Amino acid sequence: MSACLIRGVRSVELVASNLDEAARFYETVWGLAPVAASNEARYFRGTGGYHHVLGLHCGPQPAVVRIAFDVADRAGVDALHEKISAAGAKPSAPAKLTALGGGYGFACKDPDGRNLAFVTDCADHADRADVTDRPRKIVHANLNTRDFDATLRFFTQALGFRVIDDNAPLWFLHCDNSDHCSIVLCKMNLPTLNHIAFEMPEFDSVMRGMGRMKDNGYPIEWGPGRHGPGNNVFAYFCGPDEVPLEYAAEVLQIDDSYRPRPSDYWKFKPGRSDQWGITQPRSPRYYRVQRLFGFTAEGDRLG
Ligand SMILES: [Fe+2]
Repeated sequence: MSACLIRGVRSVELVASNLDEAARFYETVWGLAPVAASNEARYFRGTGGYHHVLGLHCGPQPAVVRIAFDVADRAGVDALHEKISAAGAKPSAPAKLTALGGGYGFACKDPDGRNLAFVTDCADHADRADVTDRPRKIVHANLNTRDFDATLRFFTQALGFRVIDDNAPLWFLHCDNSDHCSIVLCKMNLPTLNHIAFEMPEFDSVMRGMGRMKDNGYPIEWGPGRHGPGNNVFAYFCGPDEVPLEYAAEVLQIDDSYRPRPSDYWKFKPGRSDQWGITQPRSPRYYRVQRLFGFTAEGDRLG
């Protein structure tokens, strides 16, 4: 049994500079389904149960508003609140949420100033069947870290994640689910978003998703390939506002018997950036944008 109270990344919220265009992209190209819309915000679900996996807020400066984690129940939220308070992170008080999807939860900032939320009891969906070519959920978020030691300590000691593998500069963090990792920390001296990975139901849906992106003018920035840690098939893109996105499939499913491996184990031979060795290296554009997106100052309080 995992000691972690977190069951995965529930949703990511972004500021989009062109809300209509970004919404059109996530629905008609990326494969999410709209669940709510207003003049200022749009929300989208995957085929999994979470009420929404992506929120878009209208604003001039593209950024991340917050990352919300799923917690099993109220007791778990309260216990997590205690651990985060003890770590000195000054979270908001756990409360019934009136914002879209409802539920019960709180938010805080991590040591690098990222807005994180922890929620349960949301108005989730009963229909959870896979749909060909549509993402299920966000399978991991990769975060660049300015204060790496403090951030790793916060995620492991306060939030309860376990380092499941490391391949410097990447540390892969596992929580209470069977996915290899739900958070990746990248030691990059920046407090920004590295990328958001959406889980596709199968290998073939990643390949067809790549074709759909290409057809719509979003070139493949890296991939197709198969990662070392996590063993997943990947393809990377720059979405609206150049936000760094990944399609992933066949993510390694693990249990407590998994044996973490250090960086030396994972290094590819020169010239390779994945297991197969057919992809070009990541594009200069992708290399640039995976450093670019900061978190908003506001976002550590929930409505
Ligand atoms: Fe990834």
